[in-house]
Amino acid sequence: MEKLFVSTENKKYPIYFERNFDGLMEACEEAGFSNGKICIIADSNVGKLYMNKAKDDFGKIFSEVYGYEFQAGEQSKNLKTIMKIYDFCAEKHIDRKSVIACLGGGVCGDMAGFAAATFMRGIKFIQIPTSLLAQVDSSVGGKVGVDFKGNKNMIGAFYQPEFVYMALDVLDSLPEREFAAGMAEVIKYGPISSENFLNFIEKNKEKIKARDKEILKEIITKCCEIKADVVSRDEKDTGKREILNFGHTIGHAVETKKGFELLHGECVALGMKAVLNICEKRGYITKEIVNKICSLLSFFGLPLQTSGITAEEVYKQMFLDKKVKNNVIRFVLMKDFGVLKRTGNVNKEEIISAINNILR
Ligand SMILES: NC(=O)c1ccc[n+]([C@@H]2O[C@H](COP(=O)([O-])OP(=O)(O)OC[C@H]3O[C@@H](n4cnc5c(N)ncnc54)[C@H](O)[C@@H]3O)[C@@H](O)[C@H]2O)c1
Ligand SMILES: [Zn+2]
Repeated sequence: MEKLFVSTENKKYPIYFERNFDGLMEACEEAGFSNGKICIIADSNVGKLYMNKAKDDFGKIFSEVYGYEFQAGEQSKNLKTIMKIYDFCAEKHIDRKSVIACLGGGVCGDMAGFAAATFMRGIKFIQIPTSLLAQVDSSVGGKVGVDFKGNKNMIGAFYQPEFVYMALDVLDSLPEREFAAGMAEVIKYGPISSENFLNFIEKNKEKIKARDKEILKEIITKCCEIKADVVSRDEKDTGKREILNFGHTIGHAVETKKGFELLHGECVALGMKAVLNICEKRGYITKEIVNKICSLLSFFGLPLQTSGITAEEVYKQMFLDKKVKNNVIRFVLMKDFGVLKRTGNVNKEEIISAINNILR
């Protein structure tokens, strides 16, 4: 099976790129799983579509297979759902030799991964990401956690899975808007890595939109390679990993100010446009580069403008982000493709003007 390895300080694990669940058994064998119990966790949407199939496939390896479903949506990503997962695991006598499988998007991966990190001081877990966002971003890197008192990902851990298994065909059932949101994170890897990657997306944009699996596989693999590389150099997010936040500084604030009416990926698109505006004004990049990235975002149906919020409001919100230390707002600026500048030195005027650039 085709795979890519993620290496962290204490662990090296594979990411598999397959079409369907047929290779799961082999992946489990390679991970040394046999007999024992597995608890598959999925949200209500993904559960309806894929839980039975996953149960059947895991049944070929594990002697006991359980499935737990929670209500789909970010509003479930909290300690209440974690408690229910613990309850379920305790009831089924999940033990330290058992495995948790996260079957779903980023919400499920983050939350079930956190349950695995903490149940019995940590049991093994695997990621089976089903959304594009989860396949290119959240399932790789070991950040797990839940929201707390309205703060995104406030409670969590760094906890790496035994493997990540991508079944590309599941992307067919992903709603259009969710697919587009995932594309924002895909396009984000352009500025982070190379113009070639962006050109590849540009050249194949129609096929991507039609969810051509061969092309998607190339793209998802590339995103995972970039993320795995960054994570291997900075697993615990102490510096370099910050580049993965390209477009997120303003994006996060917009996401909160819009009351989570926009999807995360949609806000990343807005945030990227805003930060590109700062880079262009500073003379780091040309208007052509900004247009190239923005027209791709727009092609996939992502917003480049929004309304109902003010620049001043968004600016104030930015100080409440958990990445802000000593009142310094951190930015990742693009000087060229693959050449990024991490800085706390962007002034209010630049930020306000960039936000106004995405407001109608
Ligand atoms: N851990 C990390 O490094 C990291 C990175 C980025 C984002 N995240 C987190 O990821 C979450 C967002 O992830 P998401 O966008 O995947 O959200 P999500 O898990 O809520 O999935 C989005 C929607 O798509 C549905 N869905 C998923 N796969 C499907 C499929 N194959 N077919 C049909 N429907 C499907 C889900 O049920 C849900 O309604 C946020 O909570 C964010 O904080 C984590
Ligand atoms: Zn993101």
